[in-house]
Amino acid sequence: MHILETRDLCHSYGEGIHALRGVNFIAPRASTIAVLGPNGAGKSTLFRHFNGLLFPTSGGVFYRGEAVSRATVREVRKQVGIVFQNPDDQIFSPTVREDVAFGPVNLGLDAETIEHRVDEALSLLGVEHLADRPPHHLSGGEKKRVAIAGVIAMEPQVLVLDEPSSGLDPQGVDTLTAFLRTLPRRFGMTIIFSTHHVDLVPELADYVYVLDRGAVIGKGSVEEIFCEDDLLRRARLREPLLLRLVRILREHGVELASGYGQQEVEDAIVNLIREKE
Ligand SMILES: Nc1ncnc2c1ncn2[C@@H]1O[C@H](COP(=O)(O)OP(=O)(O)OP(=O)(O)O)[C@@H](O)[C@H]1O
Ligand SMILES: [Mg+2]
Repeated sequence: MHILETRDLCHSYGEGIHALRGVNFIAPRASTIAVLGPNGAGKSTLFRHFNGLLFPTSGGVFYRGEAVSRATVREVRKQVGIVFQNPDDQIFSPTVREDVAFGPVNLGLDAETIEHRVDEALSLLGVEHLADRPPHHLSGGEKKRVAIAGVIAMEPQVLVLDEPSSGLDPQGVDTLTAFLRTLPRRFGMTIIFSTHHVDLVPELADYVYVLDRGAVIGKGSVEEIFCEDDLLRRARLREPLLLRLVRILREHGVELASGYGQQEVEDAIVNLIREKE
């Protein structure tokens, strides 16, 4: 049984706006899945179904095999945490600390655990110094960090991040990426994220779905997806820089072991240069 699944999921916002058209999506436990696609493809609409912020017009969403419905949504929300694309949709408490504590408080955790989780999440996202500030006066990137901290403090089974890197400075993106990479192995957490920053995809994802006009037009491993030129053109994507370098290395007879990252690619380039010298 998969931790999260949609079957023939359709969603219409009203007459004529068919935002999702028969989406079949599977997230195995402890996987990291990227959902890609152009503006208006339906990514945020899909994500809002994962914890019952929206319900299907037809088809279904299943958490551990059980339908996400008005009857189950309260329980599902304890396990599936969403970071919205726009942090203003998420942040509403008088202080940052209270905002990050909101989820853990709702889970009914004891005061000590809440404090520990909140401190950890604030420190991880580098926003401890903002703890007593009112969130609505923060910068865009600061708000985004607070929104992510609030969901991480809930320690959900499934972490859904809609454009997690938008608004973050480059080092903030790196810190977040390094942290997200540890979660599936450490806690068996499943991560689903959308992004327009394709360079994040090989860093994080082990599987990719591509949406266009509400339909899945491609799915596969990172390498499978980014070698399909027609698919990339249709979905307004481009090849991530890391994959491009790997392709060039391959053309020079250098094969990288699976699971390579930026460091392995850099090492392979240096070795190749040394060999040619
Ligand atoms: N509340 C709404 N009411 C009516 N139409 C909506 C609403 N929200 C989204 N839509 C429409 O549904 C479609 C899918 O939107 P969605 O926000 O899911 O796209 P997206 O893939 O997340 O895009 P982006 O990359 O810009 O975030 C779009 O055509 C959008 O205009
Ligand atoms: Mg969106």
